[in-house]
Amino acid sequence: MKHTEVAIIGAGVTGLAAASRLSPRNYRIFEKSRGPGGRLASKRMDAVRADIGAQFFTVRDHRFQVAVDSAVAAGFVTQWQPNMGTFRDHQPIASPDHQARFVGHPYMNSLGRFLSQDIEIQAESRVQTIEPDGDLFRLILTSQETLTADCVLVTAPVDQMVAMLQHFDVEQLGSRFAMDPTWTTVLSVEEPLRGSAGESFDALFGGDHPLFDFIAVENSKPGRQSNFIVVHATPEWSTQHLESDPAEISELIREALSETFQVTTKAKLSHRWRYARPTNPKFTAQKGIYQVSPNLWVAGDYLAGGRVEGAYLSGLEAAERILAR
Ligand code: NAI
Repeated sequence: MKHTEVAIIGAGVTGLAAASRLSPRNYRIFEKSRGPGGRLASKRMDAVRADIGAQFFTVRDHRFQVAVDSAVAAGFVTQWQPNMGTFRDHQPIASPDHQARFVGHPYMNSLGRFLSQDIEIQAESRVQTIEPDGDLFRLILTSQETLTADCVLVTAPVDQMVAMLQHFDVEQLGSRFAMDPTWTTVLSVEEPLRGSAGESFDALFGGDHPLFDFIAVENSKPGRQSNFIVVHATPEWSTQHLESDPAEISELIREALSETFQVTTKAKLSHRWRYARPTNPKFTAQKGIYQVSPNLWVAGDYLAGGRVEGAYLSGLEAAERILAR
């Protein structure tokens, strides 16, 4: 049976940050989808892409700043300075601020591509179960491949982590750090999104709106030329419509957007993120990581406040523990 010193599950920001601190000889990183980046996702439509996961990120910690600075210097990340709005009494209003915000260039997944440059990922490899095996761990993939590892880091979203680690005591962790879904719809819109005073918006936070959580005008982000608008629905609305058909979601969001902004819109697709963000981002684990048993760690944005930055720092912390073991 194959053996690796460290097995990392997930090539999202957390897994990539952890791998970046380890020697490539010592780890293997498994990713269920086709490529790296996780929820820094973009989808190709009509020969152009739209960001369907995280819409932007902010930087507060110097360790993440260092990574972002290098990504900016290499052309994978750039600043985004949107005309911000929000919703008050369900109506769009201007809400300017001075927060520095960043986006991947030319799409969000570029940060994932940047972080994975020196990392060899075993893609389309879904780890089904992790079992104790003496002092080691045995990983069983859905492909039936099995391997052993001295040390394991699970960076999958909390529900998938719990399913993978059913041989360990993680139930409580799973209920404390629950995650909420997000329905995302991409629409094409020819006219600008304007408020009642005629001001145009590049992006809007949801404010008190029951459906809209975030709206982004794609071509306000550097490098995008499409006429796409991306809408994230609130956790409450997304939970309520969790099992709805994507076509039905598209129509509900299209109607709400065209009514709110008096624009003609066409829905392109709706995507359900079943595990999008922590239900309560104020619940955090110390340093954004959790040790399940000796040499078994879990990490991810859901333990670290829910931001892209939280995901990154959680991965760095996990790598430090792995190196110090
Ligand atoms: P940030 O620091 O720009 O904003 C933090 C929060 O402050 C926002 O959620 C918003 O409610 C409020 N805010 C900031 N500027 C505002 C303005 N000009 N007008 C009105 N409200 C304003 O962003 P941060 O914390 O780095 O988070 C990134 C974004 O990603 C957040 O909006 C967060 O909710 C969102 N997110 C979405 C997820 C999803 O699945 N839909 C998952 C995780 C995060």
